[in-house]
Amino acid sequence: MRLRGCNNFHDFREMARRRLPGPIFNYIDGAADDEVTHRRNTESFERCDLVPNILRGVSAIDMSVTVMGQRLAMPVYCSPTALQRLFHHDGERAVGAAAAKFGTMFGVSSLGTVSLEELRKAHPTPQIYQFYFHKDRGLNRAMMQRAKSAGVNVMALTVDSITGGNRERDLRTGFTIPFRLTLGGMVQFAIKPIWGLNYLTHERFRLPQLDDHVDMGGGALSISRYFTEMLDPAMNWDDVAAMVREWDGQFCLKGVMSVADARRAVEIGCTGIILSNHGGRQLDGSRAAFDQLAEVVDAVGDRIDVMMDGGVQRGTHVLKALSLGAKAVGLGRYYLYALAADGQRGVERALANMQAEIERDMRLMGVSAISQLSRDNLRFR
Ligand SMILES: Cc1cc2nc3c(=O)[nH]c(=O)nc-3n(C[C@H](O)[C@H](O)[C@H](O)COP(=O)(O)O)c2cc1C
Repeated sequence: MRLRGCNNFHDFREMARRRLPGPIFNYIDGAADDEVTHRRNTESFERCDLVPNILRGVSAIDMSVTVMGQRLAMPVYCSPTALQRLFHHDGERAVGAAAAKFGTMFGVSSLGTVSLEELRKAHPTPQIYQFYFHKDRGLNRAMMQRAKSAGVNVMALTVDSITGGNRERDLRTGFTIPFRLTLGGMVQFAIKPIWGLNYLTHERFRLPQLDDHVDMGGGALSISRYFTEMLDPAMNWDDVAAMVREWDGQFCLKGVMSVADARRAVEIGCTGIILSNHGGRQLDGSRAAFDQLAEVVDAVGDRIDVMMDGGVQRGTHVLKALSLGAKAVGLGRYYLYALAADGQRGVERALANMQAEIERDMRLMGVSAISQLSRDNLRFR
């Protein structure tokens, strides 16, 4: 299977499945409990139909958007995801470079495998830093200061991961960091020797966002212990309000779902919210962000930038979310499978496919700018 043959999400997923050891593929592909929410994320777009207009003069297409003060050449961005150098040895370097080439934003996770400073220096494109809230307030301040000094454009506090989701595929394979593979999991690594060779012949695996503050990379603390021992389940609105004041810049909450919470986010001075269920990896049975979008946009869309992610595989999914009022749309597995398939080249091809789809679909919808999309273009079944 070749990159040239990857024309859509499913092709990249298949190529990633062939390249990656089973436990790593399943870490990306899997979700919480029965994976119901994960499946619904994409299905929710299929309950909504597009109603095109014709004869609107659509020779020049402008798909740029401005979100949280950042101008993006296309209305999708690469959502922050953990452990990217496990998926391809270039990891975040490949994703950052591809995002920059397409003039869009990319996220760097707290559990990222390349330092936010290196990425900030390497690419002019806007960068989100995804942050978790620690019990140690001093640590929170130090990490925010570090991101500020590096020139990070948007701070995103993930609020849907107050405890780890129940990922049963990972329990079956023994996927943890550091690795504690089951016998079956080890066999899966043994039959993918090229991945193993790349892993061993490239720079040592690290978690540079955390290594300076927490002894993790050496394996002293597993990621699951990091979640249970270091993060603060007592985090509340007052804590976050203090963070927002301290950051004093573009600050969004990732994982807001209810109208009440969206209103609180406005009150404490956030400039954005990302409707998300973490790709179905946290609370199974929770609603799809797309299904929840209209009521949140109606409540707060005139005061805060509303974004969404989850299940996005097609340009038409993006146009549906933008028509409902999202300012931009996050991609997760869409670019991760492409990263695993062929590093930077893979992500570039995936973003090129998405760009071509959005452009074609805008023409077919009869719009030449994103601002022309509206709910008049949609009908729900
Ligand atoms: C492998 C993987 C790792 C992720 N790591 C993080 C993370 O470290 N922080 C975070 O806020 N979200 C993380 N996410 C969630 C994504 O940012 C995003 O919300 C989700 O992937 C969107 O759903 P989709 O994969 O269906 O597009 C991760 C998702 C995946 C698939």
